[in-house]
Amino acid sequence: MRAWVYRTKGKPADVLRREDDYPKPEPSATQVLVRVNAASFNPVFWKVMGTPPMKYMQTTPAVPEGDFAGTVEGGNLEGTGLKVGDEVFGLVPAQQSMKDGKGALAEYLVVDRDVVVKKPSNVSFEEASTFPLTTFTAYWALIQVGKLEKGKGQRVFINGGSGGVGVYAVQLAKAYGAFVVTTCSSPSRELVSSLGADDVLDYKERDLVAQLSEKYSNEPFDIFFDTVGFDSSLYYKSPAYLKPTGHYVDVAGPHMDGSLGSLLRGGFDFANRLLRPKLLGGVPRQYTFGMMTTSKDRLDEMAKLVGEGKLRPIVDGVYAFEDAIKAYDRQMSGRAKGKVVIKVSA
Ligand SMILES: NC(=O)c1ccc[n+]([C@@H]2O[C@H](COP(=O)([O-])OP(=O)(O)OC[C@H]3O[C@@H](n4cnc5c(N)ncnc54)[C@H](OP(=O)(O)O)[C@@H]3O)[C@@H](O)[C@H]2O)c1
Repeated sequence: MRAWVYRTKGKPADVLRREDDYPKPEPSATQVLVRVNAASFNPVFWKVMGTPPMKYMQTTPAVPEGDFAGTVEGGNLEGTGLKVGDEVFGLVPAQQSMKDGKGALAEYLVVDRDVVVKKPSNVSFEEASTFPLTTFTAYWALIQVGKLEKGKGQRVFINGGSGGVGVYAVQLAKAYGAFVVTTCSSPSRELVSSLGADDVLDYKERDLVAQLSEKYSNEPFDIFFDTVGFDSSLYYKSPAYLKPTGHYVDVAGPHMDGSLGSLLRGGFDFANRLLRPKLLGGVPRQYTFGMMTTSKDRLDEMAKLVGEGKLRPIVDGVYAFEDAIKAYDRQMSGRAKGKVVIKVSA
């Protein structure tokens, strides 16, 4: 089969190669075989391809990426409600593909039965492929950790409303009835407002801590969801705009470019965020950093929200299979608005 494959670690442009006779994956007893029509990109996959320390967790040879939409070809369909030929979408989690090297940037993939469901008919394959990883992340941060509940009118701040995670976090929080404030730069303001954000702060205009403290110290947030990561002062100063019972949930963590200096700085900052509240009488707000988790129930709810039009696909651009390196350049620029998608087959 056709696949993008890397056999050594590094940047996509240096190590990722298209192979036309890569072995088609065999589904295990609990997996479904899918012919992939579209895949969307997530930063974790270029990070495990070449950035320390994450690259040490990835096996090779490997096919990158996990988000897909496609057509069921076979495998064990028992209990899934699926049949051969059904149009589906789902996720090969990075935790899985780091171990077996099997990902979505290929004509065929194998996926566990509980992370693949029917694709809603109101979205294309390209659009459907944009939802899983980022929306699972939003579920994990807002609902599982942050305890967002339907109809409670909680106040949610989302740092990075125009990114892959942000565009779905804003919509999910609105679907749960929250008051939502988010950040972006001015070219993305119209997009994030159209997703339902109640207020949009331009992070390039003025220091974000100052903007949040001025506008929201009297009406602090229940959840602070950070999808950007590198500005630790947002956490250290959070008592000014996060309720004492509020939760700071971080999925990005400190930025590390692989250099020793960035690893040391990032490690120190990270340890400080995790330990200060508990051991040193530091920031009196709960801080959680973690990885998204998957569940069949959440994937079903995601599909329902998409089908009802409450989760709208946000596509930065669709690239041909041959143009995967160009698509990685765009994803790695950190400027994508919504999701970068690859059309794998017609
Ligand atoms: N822990 C987990 O389970 C998990 C899961 C998914 C993602 N992540 C991590 O979460 C992070 C975000 O992922 P993503 O897919 O959303 O990335 P992304 O799509 O590449 O994010 C790009 C967006 O970030 C915005 N942005 C850049 N700097 C910003 C800043 N200082 N403030 C506000 N917005 C800013 C850009 O908007 P402008 O162009 O307008 O600046 C752009 O729209 C990544 O580090 C990823 O690895 C973690």
